[in-house]
Amino acid sequence: MAMLRVMEPGDVPVVASLHRRYLRRGFLGDLDGRRLERHYQTFVGSPAAVALVGECRGALVGYLVGTVDEFTHCRVASLRTRSRLTAGFERARASRQTTGPAERVGVLHHLVVAQGAQRRGLGRTLAYAFADIARTEGTHRLTLEVRQDNQAAQDFYRDIGWTPCGDDRSRRWLAYGLQL
Ligand SMILES: CC(C)(COP(=O)(O)OP(=O)(O)OC[C@H]1O[C@@H](n2cnc3c(N)ncnc32)[C@H](O)[C@@H]1OP(=O)(O)O)[C@@H](O)C(=O)NCCC(=O)NCCS
Repeated sequence: MAMLRVMEPGDVPVVASLHRRYLRRGFLGDLDGRRLERHYQTFVGSPAAVALVGECRGALVGYLVGTVDEFTHCRVASLRTRSRLTAGFERARASRQTTGPAERVGVLHHLVVAQGAQRRGLGRTLAYAFADIARTEGTHRLTLEVRQDNQAAQDFYRDIGWTPCGDDRSRRWLAYGLQL
């Protein structure tokens, strides 16, 4: 059974390699290793972010990164990385997924469970832990985007209570939401 813990800076290279393996067709899938690691470092220790890993017998087999307040995270991330590329990406995503300053919205950015550890409840445990933390932080709503052709992930999110926002199946990315 996998154990959850907070992501440490030293986990980032393994996390980035899982990203390249399992999310290469997703957001930031084509970033080089150094930039991808910098992107993940923005979540580690950020006051507006959550970064968790799942370990099984000492091996990191899954992770989740997300924000409990997307706007605050974007500001902190762009100051930290000074990367116009990732900051622009974060801002674009934030503006699509929030409706106004009164609503505090968090975003589940990336969630991966390595193949050998899948279908044992780790994805659900990571996602529930994230939602619990976000609720405690006063976040009103969580959102995410999933590729339209990633049916397994959509089945997973529906199973754990997320609902599709809109029904435009022609889009490459579909939005899902969770009211807290
Ligand atoms: C999606 C993902 C995170 C699920 O993680 P997981 O640890 O295997 O999921 P869980 O074991 O917690 O599954 C919980 C429920 O979700 C559903 N589910 C999970 N994987 C599924 C799949 N491949 N097909 C259909 N339903 C699935 C099931 O209802 C499952 O409950 P069950 O096993 O009792 O039937 C994992 O498959 C993954 O990392 N995939 C590759 C990366 C990815 O697509 N990430 C999401 C990008 S947005």
